[in-house]
Amino acid sequence: MKSVRIESDTGKSVIMIGERLENLKTYLPVKTPIIITDTQVRRCWGAYFPPAPVITIGTGEKIKNFDTLCYIYDQLIKLEADRSAFIVGIGGGIVCDIAGFVASTYMRGVRFGFVSTTLLSQVDASVGGKNGVNFSGYKNIVGVFNQPEFVICDLDVLGTLPREELSCGFAEIIKHGAIADKTMFDYLEKNSPQALALDFNVIEKLVYDSVIIKSSVVSQDAREKGIRRKLNFGHTFGHAIEKTLQVRHGEAVATGMVLASALSVKRGCLKHRDADRISGLLEKYGLPVQLPYDKSQVLEALRMDKKREGECIKFVLLPEIGRAFVDDVPIQELEALINK
Ligand SMILES: NC(=O)c1ccc[n+]([C@@H]2O[C@H](COP(=O)([O-])OP(=O)(O)OC[C@H]3O[C@@H](n4cnc5c(N)ncnc54)[C@H](O)[C@@H]3O)[C@@H](O)[C@H]2O)c1
Ligand SMILES: [Zn+2]
Repeated sequence: MKSVRIESDTGKSVIMIGERLENLKTYLPVKTPIIITDTQVRRCWGAYFPPAPVITIGTGEKIKNFDTLCYIYDQLIKLEADRSAFIVGIGGGIVCDIAGFVASTYMRGVRFGFVSTTLLSQVDASVGGKNGVNFSGYKNIVGVFNQPEFVICDLDVLGTLPREELSCGFAEIIKHGAIADKTMFDYLEKNSPQALALDFNVIEKLVYDSVIIKSSVVSQDAREKGIRRKLNFGHTFGHAIEKTLQVRHGEAVATGMVLASALSVKRGCLKHRDADRISGLLEKYGLPVQLPYDKSQVLEALRMDKKREGECIKFVLLPEIGRAFVDDVPIQELEALINK
């Protein structure tokens, strides 16, 4: 097992990579925690939960809303949970985002931890202390910054994850290599069969490296004012594509990274060869490098982007694999790229 300690102005946390769900009980500060999970995770892994009341929610982005919060608050009241309660979210990014928000708000905040069960939540959603829900068509628009006391990243539970969900986790791992760590990018290229087969040592290294990258960026900028923007590589186009096509986040971001690499090449900062390596790597991990999106709808979504300031968008570009910078890019330039 490898662990990463995080200390930021949003709290302290320890992320344990390679620890097991079965050992959760040893990290609990109370005898009986309250578990929040979803139906799918409970079906696959419920037998390994410690004895405790379980609040089960549905699956899918549509349940990340206020109705689900109300349902959970109701259950907590029925369970007579008080300020001494300890909540554990066991699931992917949706369960953890919701459980973290509930724990941060119920009775003005109770203690909480996560067992992260998707590759995406292990390398992204559970790192950084952001918790929240969607509202009125806007993703994660209501939320808090607050760190879970611990995050267990059990690598064995990834074995029941659908292949497409696994690929979405790899999209964020590839992003981390592309923006911050060339050695990791090389490693991803060389070890794709082992990574896709979930070889324990390879996955442990990739999750660990990813957590280190995300947490070090986040610790320099916990409230997302500057350097944290680098983590948005591929996400400006990715979010726009996600709004207009029924695809997974990781798939949209993969295509977004290809477009952002193409723009980096067009601006003369990235070598053509490196852009080809990025798209080649995404393909190796089962991710789409182009998608049949409607250009005008994507442009409309880009114009609504929250990172837009006047006629420009704060956009993440690469000067080479392993480094990234943010620049103001005129919307027109993005338009020209999309229309090409
Ligand atoms: N807080 C953050 O900083 C942050 C960062 C990135 C993403 N997110 C959020 O994370 C969410 C996406 O997370 P996700 O990709 O983990 O999706 P998810 O939580 O919806 O999980 C994907 C699916 O896999 C199932 N599942 C989970 N673990 C499983 C397992 N071990 N075996 C079998 N099935 C399993 C779930 O039931 C679900 O159906 C989005 O809502 C996004 O906004 C948050
Ligand atoms: Zn993402």
